[in-house]
Amino acid sequence: MSYDFQVNPAAPPDSLEARQTPIDNGLEIPDPSRYFSEEFMRKEWTHLWPRAWLLAGVTADVREPGDYFTFDVGHESIIVAKQDDGSIKAFYNVCPHRANRIALNDFGSVSEFTCAFHGWKFRCNGQLKSITDEQTFSPKLVAHRPGMSEVRCEAHAGLVFVNLDGKAPPLSEWIGLPKGYLENYRIDEMNPVRHVRTLWNANWKVGVDSFYETYHLPHIHPQTQTVMGDYSQYDLYPNGFSRMIVPLCQKSHRIADQDTVDAGLRFMMQDAGMDPDSYKGDARGVRAAVQQSKRERARRLGLTHYENFTDGQLTDSWATGLFPNVQIGCHPEGVFIMRFLPHPDDPKKFYYDNITMFRYVDDPDYFVPAWMGLPKGTDITGATRPPIERFGEGERADLGEVLDQDVELVAAVGAGSRSRGFRGPLWSEQESRIRHFHRELDRYIKGEK
Ligand code: FES
Ligand SMILES: [Fe+2]
Repeated sequence: MSYDFQVNPAAPPDSLEARQTPIDNGLEIPDPSRYFSEEFMRKEWTHLWPRAWLLAGVTADVREPGDYFTFDVGHESIIVAKQDDGSIKAFYNVCPHRANRIALNDFGSVSEFTCAFHGWKFRCNGQLKSITDEQTFSPKLVAHRPGMSEVRCEAHAGLVFVNLDGKAPPLSEWIGLPKGYLENYRIDEMNPVRHVRTLWNANWKVGVDSFYETYHLPHIHPQTQTVMGDYSQYDLYPNGFSRMIVPLCQKSHRIADQDTVDAGLRFMMQDAGMDPDSYKGDARGVRAAVQQSKRERARRLGLTHYENFTDGQLTDSWATGLFPNVQIGCHPEGVFIMRFLPHPDDPKKFYYDNITMFRYVDDPDYFVPAWMGLPKGTDITGATRPPIERFGEGERADLGEVLDQDVELVAAVGAGSRSRGFRGPLWSEQESRIRHFHRELDRYIKGEK
């Protein structure tokens, strides 16, 4: 038993592309009740969600003082607001008067927050500004000038995190990824161009598990085989973090014809600003040709940060897992942020939250890659922040064929996990990220973290 596939065996050992030293997470098979039981869900609400750093949103949504967004997790709602001094603060979205939610929108920009119930006003830094008819309150009751309750908040690489119990280590210690890993993508220069939230019929961990491996792709998503290698490189990092490198712009070895450049590869060449008709090589040469073309395009357009990327990073997906509930598909042109948000009180449902971030480059040879699956007419300039498109159970979100397949798969796995006949997941080495994630989760549930 061994699995040590590397996308680039020549990667220097200290490079971000190198395969990490394996971590032995044992062979213990977890009890399947973690995928459906209310008791396990309650343990998570006690031991996991308040303790961990949670991805609340992106800095692109709070660029100017007074900009804010809200982030809901469980029964909590958090306001994240940009301050006059450029810092970012977070507050519980609850009025100290009688608990009304203060911000009722997903995003906004304000000079002060006003509670809609009785009109109390708060500064963007959370301080109480005014109490309506204050003379009718006993001074003793409001002498402490009740403001919004602050929540610990830190930003990293264009991402904003909150920690509800305030006891997590500093964010920099908690992020298990090497320095530069996320920073290289300059997510802070990207803008959300699409944001979709759909309700899926399974526990949030069934969602995480499904997106943490490409083992299922030939079976559930056979169409990906024309543009994707057979195997991914799986790497484990401290604190439950992990990544997989999915090699793209090449055909799976399962496909007999390794020569013909067909539609999928042609699309990928177009995305890189190439004219597929003028490409003279065969399918095996496409990956290198796309890398070279992107490199040249970046130099021509002055996109200097491409110098930080390996050739492989220009074509491949670096799907990066942020414990506990986020995976970011990292590409130089843009990133896909997937959040698996637990349903507040039903362990058999979760919200799949998908933010597509794109760095706009005003040049006719710089396209939105087709793999982003943006609907026609999407504004990619970042001039307007698209609203969150919400879809309920059974409503199709138009996220593309692959994700539609995943919606069905995840529901079937969620249902199957509740069967008396299921004894717990048997994870292969291609599923090492899943085991790594659950081992870290167990440390929280047991109160070790
Ligand atoms: S509940 Fe907010 S002002 Fe009364
Ligand atoms: Fe899938």
